[in-house]
Amino acid sequence: MEEAKMNQSRGGPRCEPHRHWTGIIERYREFLPPCEHVISLGEGDTPLIFSPRLSERVGRGCEVFVKNEGVNPTGSFKDRGMTVAVSRAIDRGARVLICASTGNTSASAAAYAARAGIPCAVVLPAGKIATGKLIQAFAHGAKIVAIDGNFDDALRIVRELGEGNEFAIVNSINPDRIAGQRTAAFEIVDKLGDAPDFHLLPVGNAGNITAYWAGYREFHTRGRSTKLPAMLGFQAACAAPIFYNKVIENPETIASAIRIGNPASWKQARAALDESKGNIDVVTDEEILAAQSWLASNEGIFVEPASAAPIAGLFKSTKKIPERSRIVCTVTGHGLKDPDTIQRRIGKLESVPAKIDNVRRALGF
Ligand code: F0G
Repeated sequence: MEEAKMNQSRGGPRCEPHRHWTGIIERYREFLPPCEHVISLGEGDTPLIFSPRLSERVGRGCEVFVKNEGVNPTGSFKDRGMTVAVSRAIDRGARVLICASTGNTSASAAAYAARAGIPCAVVLPAGKIATGKLIQAFAHGAKIVAIDGNFDDALRIVRELGEGNEFAIVNSINPDRIAGQRTAAFEIVDKLGDAPDFHLLPVGNAGNITAYWAGYREFHTRGRSTKLPAMLGFQAACAAPIFYNKVIENPETIASAIRIGNPASWKQARAALDESKGNIDVVTDEEILAAQSWLASNEGIFVEPASAAPIAGLFKSTKKIPERSRIVCTVTGHGLKDPDTIQRRIGKLESVPAKIDNVRRALGF
């Protein structure tokens, strides 16, 4: 009775369990391959944030939106593909999941494996995984193997291990991952009421740009959008195989998530760029870090370095974008995953006595 009264005074019951967001499989089931056992952590439904300062910087009546994939359950876009890949692996009776990773895929695979109650093995390039991501894989109980090699070596080994039937691969060479990641494009069309004119995103193994393009095409074919965006992909300057059209043997970048020299979805990404009349370009590590800081301090969105690549790319390509364009930039992972570069900038925080005068003086306002 008391409770009913309280609810009434607040305008009725506030909790409607059946309306809670239950993840991308429930939301977009008709567009996804069949999943019987749904393994979900409530991924997707991420904010598409209108960004006044980015829009102002581009100018000429352009509108810029940021699709913040860093707020997914494990802090990156990988969760969209992982819910589908893991659900279907469980449907097929998989016993162990495996992936190669620059960090985020392993964090996501480990979390969804934990949720599904099966073991997960991850193969990583030694010393090249951002602190937060390694901690996630460990916390979720993955079996972690670091190799003396890069991501491309790790993926080669995982492909070979996946040839037998003891491991189910959950890298984006598994089409279920791409199928799930398409839902980010669906959400953008659903929110904007149409596709944007330009879509910018970072490119590493090239699964995500492939997935977005497939998603936009699908909604266009079904009449949910009137147009298709030009896809603009950005690679780090010293890890840019698609841009240079050659395998990079020793890719290097501060954006460790996209430190990849031989992307698995290279051909599909090339097709997405060509069919959409888009473009692939490079951004330097300095441009990436500057864009990361700019976005955090001007728009309140803190992303990991790889996710700042499209923002750096937007700054670089502003003049090429026609006036009044609608632009979406996907930021792929949360800034807290990779605190090291920022931490170095903080240096040592000197303390002051716990007195108001000292604090006021230290503030300097
Ligand atoms: N941004 C972030 C934060 C990533 O973790 C990745 C890829 C990308 C962008 C690039 O996406 O590979 O689909 O082109 N991370 C993978 C991993 C390789 O293992 O976590 P892509």
